Order: sequence, then C-alpha cells, then structure tokens
Amino acid sequence: MVELELWAESDPTKYWDLLLLADPSEVLVQEYLTDGKLYAASWDGVTVGVFVLVPVEDTLWELKNIAVSPEWQGKGVGKALLTEAIGTARGLSAECLEVGTGNSSINQLAYYQKAGFRLDRIAKNYFTLNYDEPIFENGIQCRDMVFLKMDL
Ligand code: COA
Repeated sequence: MVELELWAESDPTKYWDLLLLADPSEVLVQEYLTDGKLYAASWDGVTVGVFVLVPVEDTLWELKNIAVSPEWQGKGVGKALLTEAIGTARGLSAECLEVGTGNSSINQLAYYQKAGFRLDRIAKNYFTLNYDEPIFENGIQCRDMVFLKMDL
C-alpha cells in the first residue's frame, strides 16, 4: 500500500530530472512553473514523484506535469500521486481538472482514464509546433495533444 507524504515546493532545482521525464521541453516547463504550483511526494522518506498544477480560468486547473522516478514506476506510486493531485486541485477550489498528453502516450492515456478522466479534445500539431525535436513513443510520432478532463 503506497502512502505518500506531499509538500509544496518553491524551488524546482532538485526536481528537473523528474519534471523533464513528463515534459522534455525545459523552456515550456520553466514557463508553466511561473504560474504553476509544484508539489513533490515521498514514500518512506524517499522522494518518488512530482506534479505541477496550473490555473487556467476561474475554477479550471490543469495538471501540467506528473512524474514518478523510473525506479519507482509500476508499483502504484503514479496512481497514488494522481489521487493526491486531484485532491490538491479540489483544495485549491478547482471544479474541473484537465490534463494533456500526446497521441502516442498510450500508457498515459490508460493511466488518466483509469483515474476517471474523460477524453475532451485534441490540439492538432501541438507537439510538432512547440517541440524542436520529433518525439516517438510506441512506434507512433507524437504530433497532437489529447486533452482529458475530470469534474471534481
Ligand atoms: N496499459 C494499461 N494501463 C497502464 C499502462 C498500460 N500500458 N501503464 C500503466 N497503466 C496503469 C496501471 O495498470 C495502473 O492502473 P491499475 O491501478 O488499474 O492497475 C495505473 O496505470 C497506474 O500505475 P502506477 O504503477 O501507479 O503508475 P506509475 O507509478 O508507473 O506512474 C506515470 C505512471 C505515467 C506517472 C509514470 O509512468 C511516469 O512518471 N512516466 C514518465 C512521465 C510521464 O509520462 N508523465 C505523464 C506525462 S503526460
């Protein structure tokens, strides 16, 4: 049973490896960290993951980044961390939470839907327009951003 301890972080320096796991663009991560809130989580005293929540409008927030250290993946930490992110967004008075992931991110599409997110819309060519290097996952080029949403 995963039991996470969560805290808000003002300094992202220690968490770059984790943040870049979820989003390879340091420029974009820097940009959303200016408005966003960074949280880190530990399990048994070891830092295992991070997430970033960014306000979009009124009661809508976006989960901009969520990552678990590679050695801790596949053990239920991501599921517990996503539950924490949803609870934290509720605590920030969000009524709706959205998250975007790549068309090629098959695992993440499963991960978010298992947590209750529903498919919402597609930002066509988001990755080809905003990222310098082409991204491939599961043999598919990552071109479009697929947004999922959850009412809180
Ligand atoms: N197909 C179906 N379900 C999958 C899956 C796949 N390929 N990969 C993971 N899942 C499911 C698990 O089965 C589990 O569901 P369950 O509880 O019903 O079994 C759920 O996703 C969460 O698994 P968990 O072990 O808690 O996830 P994790 O600790 O590996 O964390 C990520 C998931 C995505 C946060 C982690 O893999 C990660 O940090 N990846 C790199 C960063 C990243 O891609 N972030 C998201 C950017 S959009």
